[in-house]
Amino acid sequence: MKGIILAGGAGSRLFPLTLVASKQLQPVYDKPMVYYPLTTLIENGIREICLISTPQDLPRFRQLFGDGSAWGLRIDYREQAKPEGIAQAFLIAESFIGKDPVTLVLGDNIFYGGDVFQRAFRDFKEGGVIFGYRVHDPERYGVVEFDKTGKAISIEEKPKMPKSNYAVPGLYLFDNEVVSITRNMKPSARGELEITDVNVEYLRRGKLRVCTLGRGFAWLDAGTSTSLHEASAYVQTVEKRSGIKIGCPEEAAFRQGFLSFESLKHLIAKLPKCEYRQYLEEVAAEAARGS
Ligand code: TTP
Repeated sequence: MKGIILAGGAGSRLFPLTLVASKQLQPVYDKPMVYYPLTTLIENGIREICLISTPQDLPRFRQLFGDGSAWGLRIDYREQAKPEGIAQAFLIAESFIGKDPVTLVLGDNIFYGGDVFQRAFRDFKEGGVIFGYRVHDPERYGVVEFDKTGKAISIEEKPKMPKSNYAVPGLYLFDNEVVSITRNMKPSARGELEITDVNVEYLRRGKLRVCTLGRGFAWLDAGTSTSLHEASAYVQTVEKRSGIKIGCPEEAAFRQGFLSFESLKHLIAKLPKCEYRQYLEEVAAEAARGS
C-alpha cells in the first residue's frame, strides 16, 4: 500500500495565517499540522509516500522532510498547479502509485484513538474503504447514509439536507482501480474532481466498505482558526495527561521498525535541546530497557 498526503488547497479560511505558511505547516500545539496525517500513514505500515502541494508551498515540505530516508521512509513530491479537487491527487500521483493500492490522507486531518484504522489496513484486499464519523454539522462534509443493517446506501457531497449525521473523514483506502475511475470522471459544478464521486462509484460497483469510527475516536480538521485552536488544545490536553505524543513520526517509524534503534539515537543526537527531543529520548530509553 502506498500513501498520498494531499497538502495543497487555498487555505483561505485561515487567512492571514496562510500569508506566512501554508495551512498544513501551521503549528498544531507542538508540531506542524502535516506531522499528524504523516504519522497516521506510518502507524499503518506505509513508508512510500507522495506529498502533493501547491507550486509555492512544495519547496517548504521538501525542506522539512527531504527524501524521508532519515525516518526510514521514501517521500516523493508532486505539484498540484490549482486546487482542482481532492480526487485529482490520484492522477497527479499516477506514476508514483504504479500498480499498487493507495491510501489518501488530507494534510489537515488529525486522527487519534481506537484500532479501526489498523483493522481496516490489515484486512484491506480490494475495492475501497472509507470511514464514517458522527458530527453535529454533516452538511460541511461528504455524508454517508446507512440502511437498517448498517450497510452504506448513499454518499452525498455537502448536502443541504443531510440524510445522516455521518461525515466522511479525509482518509481513504483504494485499490488500483481508483486511477482509472478518476480518469473517467468529470469535474463537478465547482470545477473539482470530487472524492465523493470516487466513493459513489465504488459504492455503485458494490466495492465500498464504510467503517464507522465510534465514540472515543477523535477526528479533528484544522481548517479554520477556531478548529485549529481547538485541535491544539486537544493535543495539549491528551499529551499532558498521558505523557504520550500524538503525531510524532519519528516514534511511529521506530515502532514500525522503519527506523532502527541506532538510527533513532543518531537522529535524536542531531535535535536541539527541547521537549520534543526529551520525549524521543524517553522513547529510546524505554526501548533500551525493554530489550
Ligand atoms: P479544504 O479545507 O476543503 O480547502 P482549502 O484547504 O483550500 O481551504 P479553504 O476552504 O479555507 O480555502 O481542503 C481539504 C484538504 O484538501 C486541505 O488539506 C487542502 C486539500 N486540498 C488540496 O490539496 N487540493 C484541492 O484541490 C482541494 C480541494 C483540497
